[in-house]
Amino acid sequence: MFWDFKSKFYDFARNTLVIGWILGEENQAIKNLLFFLPERPDFKVLDVATGTGNVLKLLPKNYFAVGIDKSFSMLKKAKNTEKTFVNCDTLRLPFSSSSFNLLTCVGLVEYVFDVEALLKELNRVLIKNGFLLITISHTRKLNFFRFFLGEKIFLRNPLIFEKNFKENGFKLVAKNTTLLQTQFLLEKET
Ligand SMILES: C[S@@+](CC[C@H](N)C(=O)[O-])C[C@H]1O[C@@H](n2cnc3c(N)ncnc32)[C@H](O)[C@@H]1O
Repeated sequence: MFWDFKSKFYDFARNTLVIGWILGEENQAIKNLLFFLPERPDFKVLDVATGTGNVLKLLPKNYFAVGIDKSFSMLKKAKNTEKTFVNCDTLRLPFSSSSFNLLTCVGLVEYVFDVEALLKELNRVLIKNGFLLITISHTRKLNFFRFFLGEKIFLRNPLIFEKNFKENGFKLVAKNTTLLQTQFLLEKET
């Protein structure tokens, strides 16, 4: 599987000079969005497509957090032993409805064809008025170079994605645009 193979050099590539700088900017922008959350030490968080655990490291330490990913090899590299990890597919999450206060979903949407099915499943496991921090790879020029790296990705127009999440019961709280991502902090309305 593509991600099992990629897990061998994923963290190394993320720490190289240029990629490291781009991802550092993205992580800072995510932290800025997290400032909009109410201060709730009892937050239960699900990090969807956690990979090697990048986003879990950005969250306040006292949050109870679970990371899921469909690549077991990526999860094996997520060495943060205080967190719980589950090997599963995002479109079939093994959790009851309304289980989490906050979902983070960073760097996944560009690999998912059926964005409606994804938003429905995320909506299901989130409590009402819970938050979803989600990123897309926007249709600006730089992302097109990723096709040359052999990535099969779905670039998305942020305005169309806004229509998608509104139709699936979310409202916009705040957003950021970085070189490669548009990042949205959403609240579940219905
Ligand atoms: C670009 S990485 C992002 C990882 C992490 N969120 C980060 O910020 O570094 C994308 C991850 O999505 C996972 N993934 C792709 N499709 C998935 C799916 N349908 N269900 C669960 N995980 C998936 C891959 O295994 C990979 O670890």
